[in-house]
Amino acid sequence: MTIRTVPTQPYSDQKPGTSGLRKKVPVFQQPNYLENFVQSIFDSIAAPTGATLVLGGDGRYYNRQAIQIILKMAAANGYGKVLVGRGGILSTPAASCVIRKYQTYGGIILSASHNPGGPTEDFGIKYNSSNGGPATETVTEAIYAQSKTIAEYRICDAADVGLDELGSFTLEGMQVEVIDPVSDYAELMESLFDFAAIRALLAGGFRIQFDAMHAVNGPYARDILEGRLGAAAGSVMNAIPLEDFGGGHPDPNLTYAHDLVEIMYGDDAPDFGAASDGDGDRNMILGHHFFVTPSDSLALLAANATLAPGYKQGLAGIARSMPTSAAADRVAAALNIPCYETPTGWKFFGNLMDAGRVTLCGEESFGTGSSHVREKDGLWAVLFWLNILAVRKQSVEAIVREHWAQYGRNFYSRYDYEALPTEAANGVMAYLRASFAALTGTAFGKYTVQMCDDFSYTDPVDASVSRAQGIRIIFTDGSRIIFRLSGTGTEGATLRVYLEAYESDSSRHHLDAQQALAELIAIALQVSELRVRTGREQPTVIT
Ligand code: G1P
Ligand code: ZN
Repeated sequence: MTIRTVPTQPYSDQKPGTSGLRKKVPVFQQPNYLENFVQSIFDSIAAPTGATLVLGGDGRYYNRQAIQIILKMAAANGYGKVLVGRGGILSTPAASCVIRKYQTYGGIILSASHNPGGPTEDFGIKYNSSNGGPATETVTEAIYAQSKTIAEYRICDAADVGLDELGSFTLEGMQVEVIDPVSDYAELMESLFDFAAIRALLAGGFRIQFDAMHAVNGPYARDILEGRLGAAAGSVMNAIPLEDFGGGHPDPNLTYAHDLVEIMYGDDAPDFGAASDGDGDRNMILGHHFFVTPSDSLALLAANATLAPGYKQGLAGIARSMPTSAAADRVAAALNIPCYETPTGWKFFGNLMDAGRVTLCGEESFGTGSSHVREKDGLWAVLFWLNILAVRKQSVEAIVREHWAQYGRNFYSRYDYEALPTEAANGVMAYLRASFAALTGTAFGKYTVQMCDDFSYTDPVDASVSRAQGIRIIFTDGSRIIFRLSGTGTEGATLRVYLEAYESDSSRHHLDAQQALAELIAIALQVSELRVRTGREQPTVIT
């Protein structure tokens, strides 16, 4: 046996954030850094000997090296089998799909999602449980606790496993099966949506453009959109996953998906545009010269869900993260189904889906998904939209405008202040918390503060409580300003300000969101003293 037990020292900074452990690549390359975290996962989850794991990532820089290390550690820790995506590739939703389909013990996903990749950029690792979803906070806390006291890890000395050909290999008695990363996922999509109707739509001259942003969804989108659905060649752009995402920021929003935005707002723009992020779980939906906010997209999918075969029985319920607009709540009310408000991060949806309480869920941060897997799913959202478009035979814009006319419009925007000095960002939050009493009842122009709080969530399934999940300032007309610190950044602190105003008057639905929200934005800056406290005049990104 060539299994070695290697003595190690703990690192103090291995606390998983909103979505696993994310750090700069050089941090992960420190001696034993990755090994410590992986051993902490194995020690915490205590899988039975011979258990099966899924392993794959978004293909960013360090993906391949990390996979080899993890395979050798899994073999040394008594796992029986690891299913790994060819080339080390598995999108986050595909990994969730594979964990569920083959009922594995869990899976390890290597990704820093929408953060840039490269030798000095971001890398990440997270553990997903047997339901296919991100580990709950109880598990991530246990992993963190373990990482603080770890004294040794186990690894076997073996040659690297070839990842580029499908097939089965043996590594110190453990089976490594290299699987096609796309086929299981594509089959699942075919079972949910009316591929024949979408094929007919595309054959009828409906033009689409999908931007894979040089990230993991390229092969998935090529196979499904161009292959199975017959979209014109070239409908999928930036389709080859690159270790540095072509130097870009693989985040599907109006700022970073600029190639696509230019096409969709240009002359001769296609009918439908979409993009997904580094690991394929986020999505942005565009029509011809038209942007659909993620919060509206969730509400629209919910309102039209029964048009897709996989959802024709209707929805059990809807869940949205707290900062996400309440557009979906209105649909839930009309459908007479429950709507849950959870903290930010996909891990809070898992319990609700496992308990059969919700079918659809979403976040304002370009994340939408359903109980078909336990992650958000970028390409799934695109196919859902295409299915709806194929049935309704209207433009994206017409469908959205009809939705607003029926339910009212929730104007929405998020301002991100990235890479702030941590103290300044904490200072803004502390100042706001200290202002709750003074703010309550205060009038600002047409807005009066009804209540302020620090959002706290009690999971209705396991009764676990998550506190301090974002500061809410709620006005008497239901408008909201939310302040929250990001849990995924790797540089300083990122402060997010979320703004929402409800408008029932359809003569005002054509307004630009920034125009409609101008007064709320001014209030947000005033009550937080954000400019003086951070020295930032403008946000880094507005979505
Ligand atoms: C961000 C988003 C959040 C999402 C997460 C992972 O987290 O805001 O909705 O679930 O990325 O994609 P944050 O940086 O705000 O903690
Ligand atoms: Zn992602």
